[in-house]
Amino acid sequence: MTWRATVLTLFPEMFPGPLGVSLAGRALASEVWALEARDIRDSAMDRHRSVDDTPAGGGPGMVLRADVLAAAIDAADATSERPRLVMSPRGRPLTQARVADLAAGPGPLIVCGRFEGIDQRVIDARQLEEVSIGDYVLSGGEIAAMALIDACVRLLPGVMGKLESSTEESFSAGLLEYPQYTRPQLFEDRPIPEVLTSGDHAKVAAWRQAEAEALTRARRPDLWALRPAQITGPKSESRKSPKNKTDG
Ligand code: ADE
Repeated sequence: MTWRATVLTLFPEMFPGPLGVSLAGRALASEVWALEARDIRDSAMDRHRSVDDTPAGGGPGMVLRADVLAAAIDAADATSERPRLVMSPRGRPLTQARVADLAAGPGPLIVCGRFEGIDQRVIDARQLEEVSIGDYVLSGGEIAAMALIDACVRLLPGVMGKLESSTEESFSAGLLEYPQYTRPQLFEDRPIPEVLTSGDHAKVAAWRQAEAEALTRARRPDLWALRPAQITGPKSESRKSPKNKTDG
């Protein structure tokens, strides 16, 4: 079965958007995956086609109605066992592991929030999993849904070549990518690091590992603290490493 993303949105015209070009777009055209963008407003129940109302208890903005959104979910996904996600800054942060998990399944149904929020009862009643793509607030869930779908699609069989897969493994191993260089050899007085043009593959690998570790420690102490014990080399300062019991 083709991997399929179903998106429930008030702005279906935003799709496929960036998912229609480049890697994801080519895979979409060749039917490696399918995208279904459904308009939540098609499930509105009154003649004004209203989908939102003022928040119970007062406050600014508008809240997406539970009955309308539930009807939209049921129409899209009445019986399936697919993951049902709702993009929200208060969700669990998306990780590469969750992306891999979603890519391995049939493909999710994704609700895109707008307004101040979604009636909690539909989140509970339809068991929506809230997912965040970072600690900042977008004006709606659509761009977040696109980010999630893009991250999944590039993992589908046949979408990526070998080169990109190795990048994948590196991030999955818990380290940020080492810096890359290409011609010209000299750019504005900056040469390519000598080791990379030495032809010594072992030295190149060691340099890249050291750079990746240094970057991760400096920029992402959270990732550094989580890295699996087996990727720490003998010279690392891991407290877990039995060879370095006295280190840091
Ligand atoms: N909707 C608005 N902001 C978001 C975020 N950071 N992640 C997921 N969905 C969102």
